[in-house]
Amino acid sequence: MSAQNKLCLALDVDTFEDAKALIDSLQSSVGMFKVGKQLFTRVGPKIVDYIQSKGSEVFLDLKFHDIPSTVRKAAYAVSDMGVALFNVHAMGGKDMMEGAAQGIQDAESSKSKVLGVTVLTSMDQETLSKDLKVNDSVEKYVIHLAKLAKFSGLNGVVASPHEIKLIREHCGKDFLIVTPGIRPEWANKGDQKRIMTPKQAIEAGADYIVIGRPITKADDPVIAAEKILQEMA
Ligand code: C5P
Repeated sequence: MSAQNKLCLALDVDTFEDAKALIDSLQSSVGMFKVGKQLFTRVGPKIVDYIQSKGSEVFLDLKFHDIPSTVRKAAYAVSDMGVALFNVHAMGGKDMMEGAAQGIQDAESSKSKVLGVTVLTSMDQETLSKDLKVNDSVEKYVIHLAKLAKFSGLNGVVASPHEIKLIREHCGKDFLIVTPGIRPEWANKGDQKRIMTPKQAIEAGADYIVIGRPITKADDPVIAAEKILQEMA
């Protein structure tokens, strides 16, 4: 896969116009656009249609987590929209993830792939043990959830770049790993802590890297995207 097809831009904006401006200027550098809860809740499916009308792919980052039959119907709906990737919380369990995989089958000739979100990078050991009463270490729990996602029929996971190697070891080479938390050397870290550069993440085995602000907040987003593509290649 080309560097361009591995690069996914996070569209973390509030309006259709702001998203459109980014899509129009970056569609020839970036293969995929990530639409999350912020933009989707404000704008709705028309943003997915717009990205697809430009010939680009969509990662619909809505992180479903509900009873299995509801997730199955939601997965059917997003698969019908033709998104390339969408995701669910692996903490929703095996039946729920099987529901998500089944929802893709329900849609006619769907090309969608579904990813599990393991442990959010905003959670630490204290959140796991005190709030969730999970006794495993974060690392062990990430591996447990990644394997559960795989055995429930999911196509891959969203993970921190630091978890790529371990997940590869446990889940094999065909399991997709999509990673945010990417910062080129020259970019501001912002609120991301456990980061890797685009080159490091690709070398570690990421299939897709998700980047937002280093591109969207750059003085020239197109030049920033091109620099990242060069690094990745
Ligand atoms: O601007 P930035 O490059 O930090 O954007 C990263 C994107 O990936 C954001 O949309 C963020 O919500 C998302 N993300 C993340 N860390 C996770 C999961 C998702 O940064 N663990």
